[in-house]
Amino acid sequence: MIESEERDSSLKQLAEICRISSSIRSLPSLKQKFQDFELSPDEDIDPVVRSSIEKELHQIQGSQTMERARHYINMLRKSLEQDLSQDFSGLNLKLWKGYDHIYTDSLWTLGSRARGENHKAWYWGNFVPQIPFQLISRYTSSGGWVLDPFCGSGTTVVEALKLGRNALGVELNPDVYAKTGETIDGIDGMNGAVSHLVNADSAKYDFPSFVHEKHLDGFELAIMHPPYWDIIQFSTDTADFSNAHSVEDFTKRLKKLTEKILKAMKPKGHIALVIGDMYRNGEIIPLGFRSMDALSSTGLKLRGIIVKDIQNTRAKRNSESLWRYRALKSGFYVFKHEYVFVFRVP
Ligand SMILES: C[S@@+](CC[C@H](N)C(=O)[O-])C[C@H]1O[C@@H](n2cnc3c(N)ncnc32)[C@H](O)[C@@H]1O
Repeated sequence: MIESEERDSSLKQLAEICRISSSIRSLPSLKQKFQDFELSPDEDIDPVVRSSIEKELHQIQGSQTMERARHYINMLRKSLEQDLSQDFSGLNLKLWKGYDHIYTDSLWTLGSRARGENHKAWYWGNFVPQIPFQLISRYTSSGGWVLDPFCGSGTTVVEALKLGRNALGVELNPDVYAKTGETIDGIDGMNGAVSHLVNADSAKYDFPSFVHEKHLDGFELAIMHPPYWDIIQFSTDTADFSNAHSVEDFTKRLKKLTEKILKAMKPKGHIALVIGDMYRNGEIIPLGFRSMDALSSTGLKLRGIIVKDIQNTRAKRNSESLWRYRALKSGFYVFKHEYVFVFRVP
């Protein structure tokens, strides 16, 4: 008898939680938020907003007691009464449950190259779009500016435009610059985002003047993906970082360039360095960590050491067993990772 009363009472509570959960979906404040975002109540809801609110509702529905359910409802009410617009970091923490697609772990297994009509894998030495996507989504705000001083095929610029961020790309090689220009010209930036592509030596380019002429308060993010010293020689130009005379010369150039870029960064902005290590004369040169030290010595604050996987191209996949044989024979390990170092501007 007592058991069945308890069960009835639990069922009543559950029914009440479900009723509250479904009625909260039609709360005027929720509808207002959708209108603030110029969204219709159903299809056009920003995926982050939708996912965050869905998760909150799910939590309410899954509450074991009425007290817990009320607590979650109050929290949801409070968050809906606040401003849902993005802050400088690019993320709105009131919607943090909607950011499943943003990585917060230091190990990135990116898998195969994200495909899209604007990303053509014509450039040997490019990085996967997921890298700039993660960094731009996390460290820039809508309408902010991103800098890529080693622009290459423009992966950063394309991702920036797709995310509604403006971008400046600097590329030394005139042929690469011309080809990248063709790709970028065909892209309509989200929310009117624009890009500038410059054919220049980044070490000589006047970043502060660009910021000044455009009336900006600085770049929110710079993504540096330099040549990994001379592993791939990108040109015969002596200004090309792949033609540095030694590791010391390479890291010195990197430090000088970072100091220049720093003068054009927004305070509390971010600089990310994407780089890998190398073998030379039978030993590892930890180019990643040496470069990380070079950037740290400029006064930047190191905020993240991310290890990302290297996805092999088809050509490399075919020679995988050869590399494995060589590794077994010589006692070394085949590189399967690179780094993304994230720094914060003071
Ligand atoms: C590793 S690639 C960058 C690839 C790029 N992230 C992409 O996805 O296409 C390095 C690029 O830096 C360029 N580069 C080298 N030295 C440079 C310099 N001093 N100024 C500007 N670009 C430079 C090279 O021509 C090359 O295109």
